[in-house]
Amino acid sequence: MERIVDIEKFDAEYTEEVSLRPTSWDEYIGQEQIKKNLKVFIEASRKREEALDHILFFGPPGLGKTTISNLIAVQMNAQIKTTAAPMIEKSGDLAAILTNIEEGDILFIDEIHRMSPAIEEILYSAMEDFRLDIIIGSGPAAQTVRIDLPRFTLIGATTRAGMLSQPLRERFGMHFRMQFYSAKELGEIVRLASIKLNKITVDKASYEIAKRSRGTPRLALRLLRRVRDFSEVANEHEINMKTTKYGLDQLGVNDLGFDEEDIRLLELLISAKGRPMGLSTIAAALSEDEGTIEDVLEPYLLANGYIERTARGRVATEKSYIHFRLSPPQTGTLL
Ligand code: ADE
Repeated sequence: MERIVDIEKFDAEYTEEVSLRPTSWDEYIGQEQIKKNLKVFIEASRKREEALDHILFFGPPGLGKTTISNLIAVQMNAQIKTTAAPMIEKSGDLAAILTNIEEGDILFIDEIHRMSPAIEEILYSAMEDFRLDIIIGSGPAAQTVRIDLPRFTLIGATTRAGMLSQPLRERFGMHFRMQFYSAKELGEIVRLASIKLNKITVDKASYEIAKRSRGTPRLALRLLRRVRDFSEVANEHEINMKTTKYGLDQLGVNDLGFDEEDIRLLELLISAKGRPMGLSTIAAALSEDEGTIEDVLEPYLLANGYIERTARGRVATEKSYIHFRLSPPQTGTLL
């Protein structure tokens, strides 16, 4: 089933989103601490006329890892090449990318936790010494070819920092954890985007979309586009509250941004009556893979206190029971 809140499965729209991408720090809303630090590091490396140190962004999907990387490229006056780890299958693939970049350029590798160990090994010397050591042939005839590389910046993005090997993680000079956005921040992102889309959204409607976007800009922007469709079909000049509410309800997005998948997970945990449930049991019950549950479904529910993770498994919190208008199990059994 397609989820309107599923971040990864809308590549066509994702490309269109490029036009909404901020090109200045002022337009990039939220992630204040990360922005503050990056501004300093960018200014310092520009002063030294050096490439920026390698950067690792981690956190749930849709929080603007690609967006901020593109903004860094603009601010560094650098070109950015974008790829994803599963696309780099052979050492030749990596060599082709790295020998095609220029001094100071940025290489953005998404899903960097999915890099194959052989490629990762080659990446170490590329990151550290700006050198590629590639083995050509096999057996006694094998030869190592060394290629010097321009000084470049690798930006790695991952939803699972824990899956990165220690040596790879250590080669990034900066590590940033992306946070969920507040409704206020998302409201501002929606407001700015709707100006760029030439369709004004009234403030209350921007905030309504924001509230239902699971703290995630990519989702907020997607919902904005869908609500804009409802508004245009209704021949309205601007996106108003009534159409927004109607549109969001039609899309099956509830007041807190939960969709059916979130609700299924919460109902499952609630049905356990306070007993912790293991990840594999949850995955089997929801017919979902464990990675999706951990990376996509859980982070928002955890960050907002709807579920808790314990050593013995996951439990629904009192806040979840209240949301469903149920009474929590007796104190002592519920965490
Ligand atoms: N698009 C995605 N993330 C954004 C952000 N933080 N600010 C503005 N536009 C965005």
